[in-house]
Amino acid sequence: MKHFLDVSDYSPAEIQDILNLAVRLKKEHFERGNPPLFKGKVLALIFQKPSLRTRVSFDMAMRHMGGDALYLSPSEIGLGKREAISDIARVLSGYVSGMMARVFDHAHVVELAKWSSIPVINGLSDYSHPCQAMADALTIQEKFGELKGLNVTYVGDGNNVAVSLMHIAVMLGANFTIANPEGYDMPVVAQEIGAKLAAASGAKITYLRDPHAAVKDAHAIYTDTWTSMGQEEETAKREAVFPPYQVNEKLVSEARKDAIVMHCLPAHRNHELTDDVADGEHSVIFPQAHNRLHAQKAILARLFEVA
Ligand code: CP
Ligand code: NVA
Repeated sequence: MKHFLDVSDYSPAEIQDILNLAVRLKKEHFERGNPPLFKGKVLALIFQKPSLRTRVSFDMAMRHMGGDALYLSPSEIGLGKREAISDIARVLSGYVSGMMARVFDHAHVVELAKWSSIPVINGLSDYSHPCQAMADALTIQEKFGELKGLNVTYVGDGNNVAVSLMHIAVMLGANFTIANPEGYDMPVVAQEIGAKLAAASGAKITYLRDPHAAVKDAHAIYTDTWTSMGQEEETAKREAVFPPYQVNEKLVSEARKDAIVMHCLPAHRNHELTDDVADGEHSVIFPQAHNRLHAQKAILARLFEVA
C-alpha cells in the first residue's frame, strides 16, 4: 500500500482489513489510549478548498498517535500555479512523512502521487472522497454488523462522495441505489468501475430518478450538498432542480424502520437534509463525522507500515 487515492485501487479484503484496524484503534482510543505509532512522523495537509472535518481529523489522528501535522493553505503553495505539482511532490518528499491533498482536479492528486516518494492521500477531489467512504463504511458496519447484503441508497447529486460510497458499498457486498436528477449522473468511468466491483462481489447497482423508489428497503439513506465546492456559480440552477431529492421525514418513513440517515457534512440544512431528520432518531451524521478520525488513523497506519 503506497498511496490512498481511491478505494477502488484496493481489493475488498484490503479495505476490510483497514476497517478492522479502524475498529481496533477506535476501541484503543476510548479504552486504553492511543499507541504512539506515528512518533517522529509529520503529515503535510495540502488544501485547495475549505475543510472542517478533513483538516481537524487528520491533524488529530497524527497528534493522538504521537506524530504531527502541518497545514498548508490554498494561498500558500499554489498547487500547479506558483509551482509545478511534480516539483512540490519531490520537495515535500524530503521534508515530511506523508501528504494529504484536497484538490479541485483529481488529476492533481494523481500527479502528486506520481512524483512523490512518500504516501499521498486523497482528501477529496472533484471525482472522489475515499477517506469519507472509509468512515461511512465504518459507520454502517457499526450499525448493521457488516455491509454484505445491505441496501445503501444515495439521494442527490452524483458527486465525489456518491462515487466513493458506491465503490466501497459494492466492494463490500452491499447493494447500491442512487436517485439523482437527469444531468447529474455519476461520471461514466465511476459507473464502469462500480459495475466491475459489483460483478466481483455479487452486489447490485441501481440507477433511478425517483427518490421514493430508491429508499424502499434501504438500510442507509445518504445525501450530500446539491452544490459541491468549485460549482458555486451553478448554485441557483441546482437549487431549482434538486428539491424533489430532499431527504425529509416523509422520504425517511418510506425506508426500513431501522434505516440510518447519513451525510458527509457540511450539511445545508433544510435544503438536501431537513433539520428534523438531521437531528432525528435515524440520523448518524455526528458519529459518522467522528469516524473520520478512526478510519484515517487506520489508513495512515497502513501507509506508514506501522501496524
Ligand atoms: N466531510 C468532509 O470532508 O468535510 P470537510 O469538507 O469539512 O473536510
Ligand atoms: N460533495 C462535497 C463534499 C464536501 C465534503 C464537495 O465536494 O463540496
